[in-house]
Amino acid sequence: MDLAIRQLHPLFAAEIRGADLSRNIDPATRNAIEHAMDEYAICVLPEQTIDDERQVAFSRLYGPLENASAVVHQRKAGVIGPRVKLPEIFDISNVDENGNLLAGNDARWQYRQANELWHSDSSFRQKSSTWSLLHARVIPPSGGDTFFADTRAAYDALSEAMKKKLDGLEAEHSIWYSRSLRGGYVPTDDERAARPPAHHPLVRRHPGSGRRALFIASHASHIIGWPADEGRALLDELLAFATQPRFVYVHKWRVGDLVIWDNRCTLHRASEFESNAHKREMRRTTIIDTRGDFGVGL
Ligand code: OGA
Ligand code: MN
Repeated sequence: MDLAIRQLHPLFAAEIRGADLSRNIDPATRNAIEHAMDEYAICVLPEQTIDDERQVAFSRLYGPLENASAVVHQRKAGVIGPRVKLPEIFDISNVDENGNLLAGNDARWQYRQANELWHSDSSFRQKSSTWSLLHARVIPPSGGDTFFADTRAAYDALSEAMKKKLDGLEAEHSIWYSRSLRGGYVPTDDERAARPPAHHPLVRRHPGSGRRALFIASHASHIIGWPADEGRALLDELLAFATQPRFVYVHKWRVGDLVIWDNRCTLHRASEFESNAHKREMRRTTIIDTRGDFGVGL
């Protein structure tokens, strides 16, 4: 297949046309998408008519997938059940197992709303993720855009003094920390035990491009070995820096868009829409980073 690639933002993000994911992808196309991802970090593939099986099959071309059903809360949220049969599918939707709108005070919706904080998927796992792939099935008439920030460009733009300061530092990441930021969802002891925190360097080298990237955001609670408030202040400063408008691409969804983002070198967040009046149904697959932390240090 011949791919047409068009950059969407001066720093990163591209649209790729010419790959029909409802059919089998040949190795050249598979590799061309990987190369585009290494360069642009976010790729939008519009007009993809795919079901869960096709999404899982395509995603698997790039590595093993996270198991959504292994997460107790996802299971409770009805991810596995009448709506979604495959354990690899994360149901990023504001509807219940029967397809009805979730109430604003429903614990499942509160849990998912933490997506409105800047984050990198699965940074709270010791083996975090390379890419996430999100497919739009139903979108609301307005709002619900997804914001993406380029943490390679942000790292490049830091002062030399700041780059030195960050060298060798590690942060602790926990899903329960980010959930606590919004109030709302409170985990059980079992849930807490099932998802312990992870430690990652603040700066890592992105293997496909060789560029360094900040690895921060809402799951990161503090810097290892630093007083909590000092670590928090540094993490807040870095997040504010990395999410300045010049580093951000805003994606306005169309039904059928498959957006792939690289969690190692971008951050993202959901944005508001009228969730008590309109449905927004998205399906996500997430590729496990089997290499773990890589290329640490200057
Ligand atoms: C996700 C996520 C953002 C959105 O699926 O991981 O953060 O806009 N989604 O739905
Ligand atoms: Mn996410």
